Formats: sequence, C-alpha cells, structure tokens
Amino acid sequence: MSTPAPIAMLAELTHRCPLSCPYCSNPVEMARQEAELDTATWARVFREAADLGVLQLHLSGGEPASRRDLTELVRAAREAGLYTNLITSGIGLTERRLSELNTAGLDHIQLSLQGTNPEMADEIGGYNGGFKRKMQVAAWIGDIGFPLTLNAVLHRRNLHQLPRALEMAEEMGARRIEVATVQFHGWALKNRDALMPTREQAQEATRIVQEARIHLKGRLVIDYVPADYHEDYPKRCMGGWGTSGLNVAPDGIVLPCHAAQSIPHLTFDTVTEASLHDIWYEGAAFNAYRGTDWMAEPCQSCERKTVDFGGCRCQAMAIVGDAAATDPVCVKSPHHAALQTQANTHAAQEDAPLVYRQMPGKLGQPAQ
Ligand code: SF4
Ligand code: FES
Repeated sequence: MSTPAPIAMLAELTHRCPLSCPYCSNPVEMARQEAELDTATWARVFREAADLGVLQLHLSGGEPASRRDLTELVRAAREAGLYTNLITSGIGLTERRLSELNTAGLDHIQLSLQGTNPEMADEIGGYNGGFKRKMQVAAWIGDIGFPLTLNAVLHRRNLHQLPRALEMAEEMGARRIEVATVQFHGWALKNRDALMPTREQAQEATRIVQEARIHLKGRLVIDYVPADYHEDYPKRCMGGWGTSGLNVAPDGIVLPCHAAQSIPHLTFDTVTEASLHDIWYEGAAFNAYRGTDWMAEPCQSCERKTVDFGGCRCQAMAIVGDAAATDPVCVKSPHHAALQTQANTHAAQEDAPLVYRQMPGKLGQPAQ
C-alpha cells in the first residue's frame, strides 16, 4: 500500500506554558526556550508541510501564545496556504493580539477548559485567576467572530462538570466541543492515581454525550474521546501511525505522535537536517509502525486491524513495555484484564495529590 500524504500537522511551537495542568501530554523532558525553532525556520517548515500535502496546521504547545512571534507565524502559515488553528488556554492573549491574529489570517481557535468554575479551573490549571482571564478571552473571540471549538479535558475530579461544559460551549457560540477524557501520556502518566475516572464516571460520560448529541444536533458538534482504560477496544491513535498526521516538537524533531519519544528504540529526524517530505516518507520512526505488516497476533489476523491499527503504540510501550504489542485496552490483549484492574486501582486513590507539570528550572509554585 502506498503511503498517503499527511492531512494535518501539529506544530508544538513551545513547551513554555503559564499553566501547570497535571494532565499535560507534553513529555516529562521538555524542550527549553533556547532550543526552540526560530520564526524563519517555522515558516520554512510550514511551506514544506503545504508542499507535502498538509491542509490543516494546528499551532500548539505548551501555550503557543508564549511565543512573541505568534502573529508572524500565523501569517507565514496562511501564506503557505494552510488552514490554521490555534490551540490555546487563552492565557497570554489580549484583545489587541487576537485582532492582530485575525488580520494575519488565523482561521480557527480551540480554547481549553480546565473546569467550569474558577475553583476547579484554577486548581487544575495551577494558575490563580486563569478562569476569569479565559472567560474574557472567550468573549473577545466571540466579538471578533473566530470559529471556536471548546476543548474540555475531563478526569475523575471534574467529570461531574460535563453537563455545564456543554452549556458553556453553546453560550460561547462554539460550533464544536471536544469532550476529551484525559489520555495518559507524558506528564499525565504521573497523575493516573489523581485523575483516573471511575468506571461509573466513564459510563456516565458516554451516556451524557450520547444524549447531548441528539438534543444538540445541528447546534453543536461533540467530538468524544472516552476513558480508554475502561473501554474494550482501543482508539485509532493518530488515525493510524504515519497515516494522516505528524507533529513537530519545539526543537524541530518530527514525531509520528506527540508521545513517540517515549518509545526508546526509535530514532527521529529534525527539520534542520532533513526535509519534511523525506522524513514523512523515508524516516525510520514513521515507517516503524506504518500499515499492518509490523503487527503480531492477535492484531495480525484481526478483522479490525485497519479500523484501529492495533490502537496506540505509546500506550502499548508504557503499559506492556513493547510498542509493537496490541494496545492493552483491547479486549483481545492478554493484558486487558490487568489494565482494567489497574484502572480501578488508580481510580480508588481518592486522596492522591495532583503532580503539576513543571518546566525544568521553572520558578514559582502553582496555585493549590
Ligand atoms: Fe484492534 Fe488489535 Fe484489538 Fe484487533 S486485536 S481490535 S486490531 S487492537
Ligand atoms: Fe503515540 Fe498513540 S500517542 S501512538
């Protein structure tokens, strides 16, 4: 099967972030500011992405607004012909900056929601006053008229706020909400005891989403990422490894997914040493788990192997210790029962403290 061109690229502009969310999927070893690509290099990467066939560019982080050249980067992305989406907590965006981003051609904003009230949001984000600032930013986004997606990351502590998050999406004029149950990669792996939803919570969230999809039909699109430790089949992670998307880390390392560096035997290329085209088609990391030839049983003979591509390689690595193993979420995995027991054990740790994300050498303590 020939390799298709990627559709989407996630550009992690920086790992710097004013928030300290314990569910962050950034790697535990984050890139320092000195290692970040400069404006001209990012602009070149955007052109290479467009030439490769990428249509959508997601500007992410960390907090992309921490980059002082964000407006220039958006302008460069639009000049390259990319549909450009900003994934942000809103902290660091002013009315003037949003207006400049609008002029530069930003197409869409995805705003994260740590909680539906200040108490929850500021505790989870580790940033006093963050919720108030975010609500102000949401109002400016609405005034300018950016198409908006609300991104609610849910876990054991805030899953009860899901109905309110759906209401807030409507109130903000969002066209879409992503209801994303926390995925345990990167920093979030340190917080499985503190954040793992109970099985009952996971089932209730699925029920609420199903009902809401019916009564909000035509008004709000709901994307749903369930609590997969409690599921019987895994997610099709990244749409299939090396199939439709790629990530560029702040220092220019090109990754098949945001957590790929957790697979120790993979080697990665950087945009400073190779073209995006060559990395996508020839790079060792991209070819490691592309397609289905690499699969062992039970995936190799499974009727779902081109549906979910065996689930998530990084999850197989983190839990089974073998990135080529069947995702242990899968009911056909020999590790499935143990994972479900493990999930229930994590979920029962009621008093587990939050481990806040910290950059190396970052000063200051998050709000408690
Ligand atoms: Fe997917 Fe593999 Fe499970 Fe089949 S056995 S459902 S391909 S993870
Ligand atoms: Fe890496 Fe799923 S996060 S394959």
